[in-house]
Formats: sequence, C-alpha cells, structure tokens
Amino acid sequence: MKLVGKTALITGGSSGIGLAAAKLFQDQGARVAITGRSTESLAAARGVLGDQALILKSDTSNLGEIRSLMDTLQEEFGHLDILVLNAGVATPAPLDAVSEESFDHMLNTNFKGVFFTLQSAVKLLREGSSVVITTSIANQLASVNFSVYAACKAALRSLVASLAIELIPKNIRVNAVSPGPIATPMFDRFGLSDELSRANRERIQGKSPIRRFGTPEEVARAILFLASDEASYMVGEEIVVDGGMSLL
Ligand SMILES: NC(=O)c1ccc[n+]([C@@H]2O[C@H](COP(=O)([O-])OP(=O)(O)OC[C@H]3O[C@@H](n4cnc5c(N)ncnc54)[C@H](OP(=O)(O)O)[C@@H]3O)[C@@H](O)[C@H]2O)c1
Repeated sequence: MKLVGKTALITGGSSGIGLAAAKLFQDQGARVAITGRSTESLAAARGVLGDQALILKSDTSNLGEIRSLMDTLQEEFGHLDILVLNAGVATPAPLDAVSEESFDHMLNTNFKGVFFTLQSAVKLLREGSSVVITTSIANQLASVNFSVYAACKAALRSLVASLAIELIPKNIRVNAVSPGPIATPMFDRFGLSDELSRANRERIQGKSPIRRFGTPEEVARAILFLASDEASYMVGEEIVVDGGMSLL
C-alpha cells in the first residue's frame, strides 16, 4: 500500500479519470475527498467510493466555492498530502463557432480553476506533498475543433513548470499526467449525435498506434506514481499516457 496515512483531494473526482484515481488511492490506504458539480455524478461516485470518502459539491471555476472547499478540508482532514487537479471540460467547435460563453467556461474550469485551487490549497499542503495536474496530449498537438481546450492544457503545462520551481523550496512537488484518448464520459458530453460520436471514436481508434482507447485506470496508475513517494525526485515533469498517439 503506497498511500497509507495520506490525505488526498481530487477535483473532478466524480467521473472518469478522477473517479478511477480516487478508487485507486483508497485501495492504497489514502483518505480521499473528491469534488464535482452534478448531484447525479456525485451520487454515483458515492456508490463506488463508499461512506469513507468525502464527497463534495464544488465548482472549480468559482473562487468562493474553492475557498469554502478548503475550509471544509481543513476541518475534516486538517491538511493535504496529495492534490490532484483534474476537473476539466471540453466543448468542441471550429473557430467561427466558439462563443464567448463557451470560451470563458473552458478557461475558467480548465485553467483559472486549477490555478486558484492550487493557490488556496497551498496552506493545507504538508511538506513532502505532491500535486498532480491532468493536462492532455492536446497541449502539444494541433487539435482541430479543440483549439481553446488545447490552449488551456498548454497553459497548464507551462504552469506545472513554473509552479514546480516555485513550490519545491516548500518540498511540494508539482507534476502532470498527460492522457491521450481515454474512454470516459467526457466523450458523451461533446454534444454530438450518436452516429457522429461513434464515427469520432472509430476515427481516433483507427489512428491510435495501440488501436484502442485507454482506460481511466491506466491513467490513474500514472497519477498514483506521481502522487506517491516513489516519485520523490520528479519535479515539474509530465507523464504521457496515450498508447503512442502523440508520437505520430
Ligand atoms: N478522456 C480523455 O480522453 C482525456 C484526454 C486528455 C485529458 N483529459 C482530461 O482528464 C480530466 C478528466 O476528464 P475525464 O475524461 O475523466 O472526463 P469526465 O468523465 O467528464 O470527468 C470530468 C470531471 O470533472 C468534473 N468537473 C467538470 N467541470 C467542473 C467544475 N467546474 N467544477 C468541478 N468539477 C468539474 C466533472 O464533474 P460533473 O460530472 O459534476 O460535471 C467530472 O467529475 C480532464 O481534465 C480532461 O481534460 C481527458
């Protein structure tokens, strides 16, 4: 067991990659708190994680909610050893169809939320703690119809490098996990018809060197590594988990 005695917060832990990481962390002995927005996904997460998990409704794009989240964690856990900044949204659209609302929603969740959650959490993070940020292979590839999302993830990659250097004197390590295509509910949230959605999945699968989507558990294992003391010399790095997709 790699996380015995540790406390962890996973944002966007109610679904997909975040939920798989929360389950794995629990199995490794950690006390886990997760956040999400929708009542339905939080209830489903309760079914997976059970009563011992702290399941909190908190919108990562809202600074007031981030502050009260940290107050709750201070009361419940007293401190944090692991922070996984994973909440994210993607709304695909070509350049001429991106609305200001959609642009702000993606930036506020994927970039601003990550920055201010980390800023608020620093006072709770103990010496020797680990921060893992979920980026994406889209941060270094041309991503047609995902320009805003990809730019947010590129901004996160930059943030990981800068804040890793800023926080290492406090003995806090900041790193990133960069997933390729992973089979999560995110793909159902794109607003595509069933037919287009299926064609999209087939296209991605056909392009992938490994010829399949990754599973959330495969990404969770890389998050566990960075979160644990096994990665004690990893600072400001990004682990790519993508079946070889970004090598093409
Ligand atoms: N799946 C992929 O192929 C892939 C590839 C590369 C990177 N990623 C990244 O991996 C991360 C997890 O994605 P996923 O694929 O696991 O997607 P997912 O299943 O859709 O999960 C997204 C999670 O983020 C939460 N969330 C969204 N907006 C939020 C907000 N404003 N405040 C708090 N929580 C919020 C969701 O909660 P609700 O359900 O309550 O909204 C959910 O728990 C994201 O950062 C995504 O960009 C995914």
